[in-house]
Amino acid sequence: MNTIIYNKIKTDEPLDREDIKYILGSSNTKDLFDIAYEIKSKFVKQKVYFRGIVEFSNYCKKDCYYCGIRKGNSGTKRFQMMSEEIIETADWAYKNKYGSIVLQSGEREDKTFIDFIEHTILGIKEISNGELGITLSLGEQDYEVYKKWFFAGAHRYLLRIETSNKDLYSKIHPPDHSFDKRIGCIKSLQEIGYQVGTGVMIGLPNQTIDDLVNDLFFFKDIDIDMIGMGPYLNSENTPMSNDSVQPLWNNEEVYVLSLKMIALARILLKDINIASTTALQALKPFGREMGLKAGANIIMPNITPVEYREDYQLYDDKPCIDEEKELCLGCLDSRISGVDEVIGYGEWGDSPHFINR
Ligand code: 5AD
Ligand code: FES
Repeated sequence: MNTIIYNKIKTDEPLDREDIKYILGSSNTKDLFDIAYEIKSKFVKQKVYFRGIVEFSNYCKKDCYYCGIRKGNSGTKRFQMMSEEIIETADWAYKNKYGSIVLQSGEREDKTFIDFIEHTILGIKEISNGELGITLSLGEQDYEVYKKWFFAGAHRYLLRIETSNKDLYSKIHPPDHSFDKRIGCIKSLQEIGYQVGTGVMIGLPNQTIDDLVNDLFFFKDIDIDMIGMGPYLNSENTPMSNDSVQPLWNNEEVYVLSLKMIALARILLKDINIASTTALQALKPFGREMGLKAGANIIMPNITPVEYREDYQLYDDKPCIDEEKELCLGCLDSRISGVDEVIGYGEWGDSPHFINR
């Protein structure tokens, strides 16, 4: 790495746009990942936290052009797990010492859904004596709904901005999907008291290096507690799958860029939680472990019952579609010790950034 930039990072001098652009374009990744790992070890330790993710329904009222479960995809068979089934899955996670779980689904705003979530959160809190942490990833909702779920016991929320470039956002969503509304939701969640995570997709058609630089500054400006970002992957039968504009980078380049984005997020934001996403693993079998080496500290193992997994495909070739959660656990254990990290079993693993605020 360029020595001036290297020294800036070492002495904790802020990086400017040009430095970040240089790093994103440079082929020397080793120094970058090593220094990001050093910062990670200092601020969040060499510890990985698991968030078991339950993808409990693919009914969705949104129509994002890139997503496999968008409303307009008539080829997707729709499913919805029962509340008891979700609570049972959460119980498995609790007994296996996952500190917390993520409940994710397509977006719905009807009263039945709102009450269903509240009921499920209360049920999970009850079976785990309030010990299992609950993160929600249920899209854009009204302020009062976020509040209701927070008071029921959810304490973290993931809502990706997808891209911080408003024009690009409008290219990958239908006209009634609003960038400003999404920002408003992130701010509401922060105001209510959630630990809030956001993120972007990397390698979208029409996305540039400047956009990625802006994404990193966006994370910093909005003062986020958690980041989950990963490659944009093709999803058959979506409008973007047939986009005439090709992304600027091929899969290999997107993979490396995604790792660099993790490393830079660690360098710039230090004490936040950063997830190494399944989408990284979709590009490389050991992509998630490499994410940990580049500065990430969270892994979200899929604990959805196997019979539903095939129908929750946001993108093509999603890994671990037919792997029972018990198998995943053994597999993850050895993968993580293989990269010399320990798993924070039974701990919530809150973002130190949130705690220190
Ligand atoms: N490729 C990568 N990520 C995707 N998501 C949805 N579709 C895709 C895709 N084709 C991501 C979005 C969304 C999250 C739940 O899944 O970033 O916020
Ligand atoms: Fe918006 Fe799935 S429809 S991310």
